[in-house]
Amino acid sequence: MDIGLTGKCAIITGGARGIGFATARILAGEGAKIALVDINSKGIEHGAKALRRGFGIEAIAVPANIAAPEAVAKMIETVSKELAPPDILVNSAAVLDNKTFLESDGSDWDRMLGVCLTGPMHLMHGLLPGMIERGYGRMIFLASDAARVGQARLSYYAAAKGGIVALVKSVAQEVGTHGITMNVVSPGATNTELRQDREAEIRQSMGEEKYASYTRKVNRRYPVGRIGEPDDIAGMISYLASDKAAWVTGQVISVNGGFVMP
Ligand SMILES: NC(=O)c1ccc[n+]([C@@H]2O[C@H](COP(=O)([O-])OP(=O)(O)OC[C@H]3O[C@@H](n4cnc5c(N)ncnc54)[C@H](O)[C@@H]3O)[C@@H](O)[C@H]2O)c1
Repeated sequence: MDIGLTGKCAIITGGARGIGFATARILAGEGAKIALVDINSKGIEHGAKALRRGFGIEAIAVPANIAAPEAVAKMIETVSKELAPPDILVNSAAVLDNKTFLESDGSDWDRMLGVCLTGPMHLMHGLLPGMIERGYGRMIFLASDAARVGQARLSYYAAAKGGIVALVKSVAQEVGTHGITMNVVSPGATNTELRQDREAEIRQSMGEEKYASYTRKVNRRYPVGRIGEPDDIAGMISYLASDKAAWVTGQVISVNGGFVMP
């Protein structure tokens, strides 16, 4: 089935690893041109090379911090010049912390909001004018089920992700008539380095025995009996990036093994 991705130009932030790179592999397999964007420049260079070799498509690595407006503007210029004007944005870049609300201070909030909320705003500002001019765009932003049901020790991450939901729903209403769809994918716990790093901290503070029982409890909360893998999330993102999803916009789609059923 042709899902209309051949030759489309996709920017994938957070593309060095995890859900971002898993999405890049699917889009590349469908014949899209890929720009991997990340602060991890080695990771995206390695990733872009693997995409070119594995799929025979055009793929470039563009190091950029999405929290910095000048870096975002420069990145979009580079992609437009070296690859093509962008048709698709997948915003997967994020950071995570492991602190209670009372342990957090203003600098924690600034860092989190900078990457997880202001960053997406810079990307929208930079990309929407061109997409409107060309009459086509697909934007997919990663949130988290922590924003839908709350999660202890993730308050400011959840707040930033809740903000992106409100932002996407609002802007989607402004740009729909220009052929642009904007959606949010909200994963449950997914087995990536982001989660593994946080789990390592939890494991250390709990000790092996308690951690094993905690892990069993977590898995029981997922009706399908396991946490997610990056490809579980990437499949939904790729569908939303395709022409098959032309009538899906302003939606928040949980991909979570049934963890919450909002
Ligand atoms: N893994 C999970 O359990 C989970 C659950 C819910 C939501 N999510 C969301 O899914 C998305 C992808 O998560 P993941 O687990 O693949 O994460 P990951 O940590 O594996 O990948 C995120 C990437 O973002 C990059 N990044 C961080 N700050 C950046 C910045 N300022 N500019 C550019 N790049 C930056 C990192 O270098 C990293 O390569 C994130 O938005 C995350 O919040 C993940």
